Amino acid sequence: MMGVTGVIQFQGVTKIYNNGVTALQNINIEIEKGEFAFLVGPSGAGKSTFMKLIIRKEFPTSGQVLVGHKNIAKMKAGEVSLLRRNVGFIFQDFKLLPHKTVFENVSFALEVIEASKREINRQVPAVLELVGLKDKANIFPSELSGGEQQRVSLARAIVNRPHLLLADEPTGNLDPETSWGLMDLLLEINKRGTTVIMSTHNKNIVDKLRRRVIALDGGRMVRDEQKGGYGFED
Ligand SMILES: Nc1ncnc2c1ncn2[C@@H]1O[C@H](COP(=O)(O)OP(=O)(O)O)[C@@H](O)[C@H]1O
Ligand SMILES: [Mg+2]
Repeated sequence: MMGVTGVIQFQGVTKIYNNGVTALQNINIEIEKGEFAFLVGPSGAGKSTFMKLIIRKEFPTSGQVLVGHKNIAKMKAGEVSLLRRNVGFIFQDFKLLPHKTVFENVSFALEVIEASKREINRQVPAVLELVGLKDKANIFPSELSGGEQQRVSLARAIVNRPHLLLADEPTGNLDPETSWGLMDLLLEINKRGTTVIMSTHNKNIVDKLRRRVIALDGGRMVRDEQKGGYGFED
């Protein structure tokens, strides 16, 4: 199934929630495979809704979201689960399982897709090494700093080698130094071929890295720049 890995396209996408709120209005955009794009905009701009539409957590009210040229609203259940398997997520709140160790939190992501024990024992240490937590595999989330917890959630998001990583304000709860550590990892993952879409309020990071910037405001796309800056005052 080719479609899983391909370009993401929004064609005239409007999302109006049941309460009447227009979260996105007539969004037209294309994000190529392998890109790194920032999604910026004030709170309520529609950033999380944008992410949810890509994995069919929400459906557009009108318009279409295509992944690999395929309208995801028309995918069958099996195709949707394949799509989601190929997408990793990280969020502002880390959502780790408190009674599982670091290793188990990461391996859980492989167990749910029925990976073999052998696969788990190969992939989990490799990804913990990548995020710099190899030595903390057997401790519990409560014993980690916020930055370390976010690195566990990143490890969990990428352990099955997703084609696309959606990071929804991943540095929202991190101090500047820790945030930069996480950015280095996201850039490294992107370099290895994963498309990364990251929503953020972090002006510093966006202005320094000069990547593609897609700006939303009140549900409208107000900017789409290569090598852009943050561009909002907040
Ligand atoms: N499930 C929902 N039901 C109703 N309104 C929602 C829902 N999710 C988000 N919204 C509204 O849609 C708008 C965009 O929200 P969101 O996509 O979360 O923005 P952001 O992530 O940029 O803060 C906001 O006005 C928000 O209150
Ligand atoms: Mg949000």
